[in-house]
Amino acid sequence: MSGRSDALVFFGMTGDLAYKKIFPALYRMARRRALDVPVVGVASTPYGVDDLRARARASVEEALGGVDDEAAFAHLSDSMTYVSGNYADLSTYFDLRAVLGGFDARRPAHYLAIPPSLFPTVVENLGTSGCARNARLIIEKPFGRDLASARALNDVVHQVFSESDIFRIDHYLGKEAIQNLVFFRFANSFLEPIWNRNYVRLVQITMAESFGVEGRGRFYEEVGALRDVVQNHLLQIVALLAMEPPPGGGAEALRNEKETLFRAIRPIGRDDLVRGQFAGYRDESGVAADSDVETFAALRLFVDSWRWADVPFYIRTGKELPATVTEVRVELHRPPQRVFGAFGEMPHDNNYLRFRLSPDVAIAIGAMSKHPGEEMVGRPVELRLAADTPGEWTAYERLLGDALDGEAMLFAREDGVEAAWRVVDDVLDRHGPAHLYAPGTWGPPEADAIVDDPHGWHDPGP
Ligand code: BG6
Repeated sequence: MSGRSDALVFFGMTGDLAYKKIFPALYRMARRRALDVPVVGVASTPYGVDDLRARARASVEEALGGVDDEAAFAHLSDSMTYVSGNYADLSTYFDLRAVLGGFDARRPAHYLAIPPSLFPTVVENLGTSGCARNARLIIEKPFGRDLASARALNDVVHQVFSESDIFRIDHYLGKEAIQNLVFFRFANSFLEPIWNRNYVRLVQITMAESFGVEGRGRFYEEVGALRDVVQNHLLQIVALLAMEPPPGGGAEALRNEKETLFRAIRPIGRDDLVRGQFAGYRDESGVAADSDVETFAALRLFVDSWRWADVPFYIRTGKELPATVTEVRVELHRPPQRVFGAFGEMPHDNNYLRFRLSPDVAIAIGAMSKHPGEEMVGRPVELRLAADTPGEWTAYERLLGDALDGEAMLFAREDGVEAAWRVVDDVLDRHGPAHLYAPGTWGPPEADAIVDDPHGWHDPGP
């Protein structure tokens, strides 16, 4: 059954994600007059609806620096109701059903932003209580902790929801810059001839954050960088960069190509990974005094396909690095002959495409041009193809709107999630120790060994 959902049910409405991302997204939807469904919060916190509204206001003020459209906020407030109850208790779901009945909601979307350990209970109770009838399910990452648990989780949700009604959120897919990456690849004909091993010599992706775990120590202990951002956000970027053009377009064609690409990635082995931990992490609340959880990961992977054979993809991410920036750099081979060789060595790394994904959005081509003057001496220049500020729509705003509409393109599919776990599965628990690094540096020096190239890692500029 297609059609727009007529209610958004939010499990975990008093939690961290709702506070940081969802209230602001709902407010922005209200500001665009695009919030046209009731929002039903569900959580165990004994709140009244006024408490929820106060929390929504605090969240919007913190995220956006204030409420700049009181009418929109009033609309959001009026759209919200709250069901308080234990997730394990069926009566909570009967209360929810009564509330949904009051709105005459026939196609609700249930959004689970709750600890993954609660997913099975909530999904089963949604089914037993009848709340799942005609409903959609929106779930937050992480989808499991490894391949086996992801499969188990998929089995659980499939007992109640069909795959076409399940929307797995990887918020990176909702970002303007990530959409631009795919658009740029497939909307321009000049790229395709060079987008392969004949022209590309290596790819580097850096996702750096200048902050630490920000009070989320207990959560982070359970995940570490590999599970938190590599298996999902960063592998999604690899897939979008490297997949084949989706024939005919459309959500399923695109997801098919991504899945094929994930399958072509050679599972990462121990030698392809260096893990790091910033000094001071163990002092965070909720973190074990002898924790070996990685706050930094550098890895090398290969896509075993006709297009990408032997082209290394180097990926690096970490907390407490010198900047908060995400950037992709696709380096091309240098020209076959040094026509101007007598006038200086040509570096290897000056022909490239650079996709800046955050905090600003830019696409640039690195090239050599002649230095003005008598001698035939070159200098590196950058042709900036696009320089933009991130779009007006935030990722969650876009994703919530799409999930309510049943638009699946920006969501991870069951097989894609499992195929992405397969890439990292061997090294999740079998790896070398995490190397210490000083906050404000680009990770442990051991990470340099991952890049088999004289130019090493390229640290993105500010
Ligand atoms: C989340 C991770 O999925 O993505 C966080 O759990 C990380 O650890 C965040 O900081 C980064 O997302 P963004 O949109 O802030 O770049």
